[in-house]
Amino acid sequence: MTPFERRARACQERLADADADATVLFPSRNLLYLSGFDEEPAERHLLCFVPREGDPVFLVPDLYETQVRAESWLADVRTWSDEDDPREALADVVSDLDLAGGRVLVDDTMWARFSQDLRAALPAADFGLASEVIAPLRARKDDAELDALRRAGATVDRAVERVRDMGADVVGMTENELAAEIERLLADEGGEGIPFGPLVGSGPNGAMPHHSHGDRVIQSGDPVVLDFGTVVDHYPSDQTRTVVFAGEPPAAFAEVHGVVQAARTAAVETVEPGVAAGDVDRAAREVIEEAGYGDRFIHRTGHGVGLDVHEEPYIVAGSDRELEVGNVFSVEPGVYLPDEFGVRIEDLVVVTENGAELLNDTDRGWRC
Ligand code: CO
Repeated sequence: MTPFERRARACQERLADADADATVLFPSRNLLYLSGFDEEPAERHLLCFVPREGDPVFLVPDLYETQVRAESWLADVRTWSDEDDPREALADVVSDLDLAGGRVLVDDTMWARFSQDLRAALPAADFGLASEVIAPLRARKDDAELDALRRAGATVDRAVERVRDMGADVVGMTENELAAEIERLLADEGGEGIPFGPLVGSGPNGAMPHHSHGDRVIQSGDPVVLDFGTVVDHYPSDQTRTVVFAGEPPAAFAEVHGVVQAARTAAVETVEPGVAAGDVDRAAREVIEEAGYGDRFIHRTGHGVGLDVHEEPYIVAGSDRELEVGNVFSVEPGVYLPDEFGVRIEDLVVVTENGAELLNDTDRGWRC
């Protein structure tokens, strides 16, 4: 059984527990997760029905038939052609699966035009969201996923080492130029794309946590927040280092950097199965509060990472969600001093039986 089929069978068990009759997916991470088929959403009806029992059914435009059969494990592939009304084909499938009075969980990101057609085909059904059954599965990574995540982590680690090695050569480059160079290095190290644009926040721009990159010229002595990742076999990496490429940073910088490093370490050391996500956030926040920068740590400590670079579990204050073996998430505390600089340090961790496995392992210091 492929990992994709195993996940679909686990999804069927959850459908039964949730008292739902089927989940209906369209081109999305959920569909990739359960079928192995990866496609961008488009205007044609391409839907996958996973019923509580029996085999899933793909309804696809006929130009996709060969591709769907090659890339997914699903055998029941039904097609419609460009001259047909896809809503008639849809009505046939929901009738075959006997979904009329049922409870149907629709892919969270399904375009409204397709969910409207589903509703029209099933006027008496109850609707919910697919994440109800799929998100808990996706939060516990299986071996195939962990393997891809480890390779993505190693790939971004090699690239970040090469960025650090640029040292004083970075002074005089714009953030845009450095971001383009980072993308080139990621591809050169075997990355298959980027999950989000590289964040390059130099000097005062680093105080904006989601500043992407701009035309500011990087100066000697600038702290530079470097937050980027790459994708390997559909799975992303995500790490952040804050470095000074040359010269002496502002007076407060070394202390703040040390505080953020200590917060990261405290949070990582808290990670183990059964610990609440909010306790990991608490561990990082306490270190930063004690140092007097509590009001400058202006975001949650982390986010789950899987096929989506932001997914469950979220490592956020007050969350009593218990960490489970196989959860993968970022630990990324930061301190942001407006108009001066920012510091963020981020690693991805896997929850293991005994604690945490780090997916990133490069120098966390600020000197290049
Ligand atoms: Co992140």
